Amino acid sequence: MTTQDMQLILTGGALGVEVRGLDLRNALSAETVHHLRAAFLDHGVLFLRDQQLSEVDQVRFSRYFGDPVPHVREQPDRPIPEIFIISNVEEKGRPIGALGNEEIKFHSDLSYMPRPGSISMLYAVEVPEAGGDTMWANLYTAYETLDEQTKTRIARLRAIHKHPRPQQNPPVPASHPVVCVHPETGRKVLYVSPHLTSHIEGLGAEEGQVLLNRLITHATQPRFVWTHRWRVGDLLMWDNRCTMHRRESFDNTQRRIMKRTQMFGDEPKGDLVTHPTA
Ligand code: SIN
Repeated sequence: MTTQDMQLILTGGALGVEVRGLDLRNALSAETVHHLRAAFLDHGVLFLRDQQLSEVDQVRFSRYFGDPVPHVREQPDRPIPEIFIISNVEEKGRPIGALGNEEIKFHSDLSYMPRPGSISMLYAVEVPEAGGDTMWANLYTAYETLDEQTKTRIARLRAIHKHPRPQQNPPVPASHPVVCVHPETGRKVLYVSPHLTSHIEGLGAEEGQVLLNRLITHATQPRFVWTHRWRVGDLLMWDNRCTMHRRESFDNTQRRIMKRTQMFGDEPKGDLVTHPTA
């Protein structure tokens, strides 16, 4: 498989690029991986259709981009521990995976951890006939389109991120800059979400909530959001350092099975250079 076989097709939406011409059961050349990485960093979400992947294939592909690790929520008895099942399906009266069939509000993965998720991948094994679409918001454009007064106001603020299930949180709640700098692109990102950002530090509860709501409403405008309608065989990877995503609900009589791999990054860093007096 050579880089010449590979085509990149922009979604035409707020972010995302489709890659055609690759079969991920095969090893990729260093040159191909280089081009995939560049496209991924440029577009935040990258996907390939019609793949036929084993769990080993998915983990091998993930390793081109980082170090996939077992998810923080353990799923015992997984033959390949780096694969985490997301599903509403139950077998022998027990769920085979996590996250059920309900809506999951916009979030960047694992932002409730001191070192949140960096790259996540989902491989679609079974999808419902309707619903269960996933949508991503572009947090670069969300930041860049803020007015200058707001950029100055939020430049040094930090927010506490918490999972709604208390037992999932670390003993010390994670605090991240509201404006983060992407460690690879150097671009600024608005890093707050309705699902996992609890409050802004150092502001009164009401003032902080009003600001947080305003930032989230801004970041989730349709013009910054792209929606993926899943098909069986889709492999999609996203950059949690510059995007957040939301999963639609779906009818629980329908089956949805996804296999996920997860990479972690460093602690998100803020930017103290541009607004030194803010
Ligand atoms: C997630 O929120 O990480 C799951 C996305 C999905 O199920 O599509």
